[in-house]
Amino acid sequence: MPPLEEYIKSLEVIWESKNLTNGGPFHQQFEAALAEYLNVPYISLFNNATMALIVAMQALRVQGEVITTPYSFVATAHSVIWNHLTPVFVDIEPDTCCMDPTKIEQAITSKTSLILPVHVYGRTCNTSAIGEIANNYGLRCIYDAAHAFGVKDEGGSILRHGDLSILSFHATKVFNTFEGGAIACNDLNLKKRIDYLKNFGFASETKVVASGINGKMNELQAAFGLLQLNYIDEAISRRKSIDHMYRELLTGTSGIALPQEWDSESHNYSYFPIFVGGEYPLSRDALYDKLKAAGVHARRYFYPLISNMPMYSKCSGAKERDLPVANAMASQVLCLPLYPDLSFSEVLKIVGLVK
Ligand SMILES: Cc1ncc(COP(=O)(O)O)c(C=O)c1O
Repeated sequence: MPPLEEYIKSLEVIWESKNLTNGGPFHQQFEAALAEYLNVPYISLFNNATMALIVAMQALRVQGEVITTPYSFVATAHSVIWNHLTPVFVDIEPDTCCMDPTKIEQAITSKTSLILPVHVYGRTCNTSAIGEIANNYGLRCIYDAAHAFGVKDEGGSILRHGDLSILSFHATKVFNTFEGGAIACNDLNLKKRIDYLKNFGFASETKVVASGINGKMNELQAAFGLLQLNYIDEAISRRKSIDHMYRELLTGTSGIALPQEWDSESHNYSYFPIFVGGEYPLSRDALYDKLKAAGVHARRYFYPLISNMPMYSKCSGAKERDLPVANAMASQVLCLPLYPDLSFSEVLKIVGLVK
């Protein structure tokens, strides 16, 4: 969180102006500052990423089937259902935990209209292979980039890929506005449609052009986000030190596989997932319980797999035999605590418990 005194100053401005929402001055400033920070042409702010995902599919007028990953937070698949679309699951790659592009083509049918991959843990999907498939088959592509604030690849921001990318500013994310989210897009007309849709479909005071919803970010969140931008680089660099410490101390622990090294210039160090294998003396869940009993809340993130949840288990591609990698990863993963003010002594304690 930014320094409270600074936020109080922003609150005083809000109290004075009484501009609480509806695209007020903080919203406008934050949208512009964020687009510049993230180096993307357009940003539309939202009250959370789930709403942004739902609206993104409305904006692109997606129909029929959506090819997506079971290895994500439930909101990814739920947003498909809220649009009355049909999720179709494909497996993930073991090294990135992102959608495996070699599995996409066999899942395409005449009803497919969208590919919805997730940049899991801020690790980038194989955007060139996915982009090529989307182009060849005339499909839309929306990236769930909830974990990928500030992540870059060799060509710049990863948010430039696909038709749209969705960010989450939930309190648990690298960058937060208490709750919040955004859509990054490359096309001004599309941004306009998204902005209408998130504001009940209003194109002007009297003209309603779509059956929109209320997905707006309010001034308190926007003012908070604007301040956060001043501190995000420092927060990411602190996360990086903690990541390095975990990595150094846990390397060589029998039965514990570590995440691949991130490319240090372009990563956001959002999560530190470890994978608990058969050689480890405890099961993943027993380790989770042991940490919890010692006051350490690690997360089985993502577990259970979306495709194993009752409401998704009958979907196309959801069978365990079709998703061997995703099932294996979900049964082994444990994300260790990682946040900027986690002290080195706490990291030592966590590592000691694992070891
Ligand atoms: C991959 C992914 N997508 C979507 C969401 C939903 O974000 P929000 O909580 O901002 O609605 C999350 C949140 O954890 C997430 O991890």
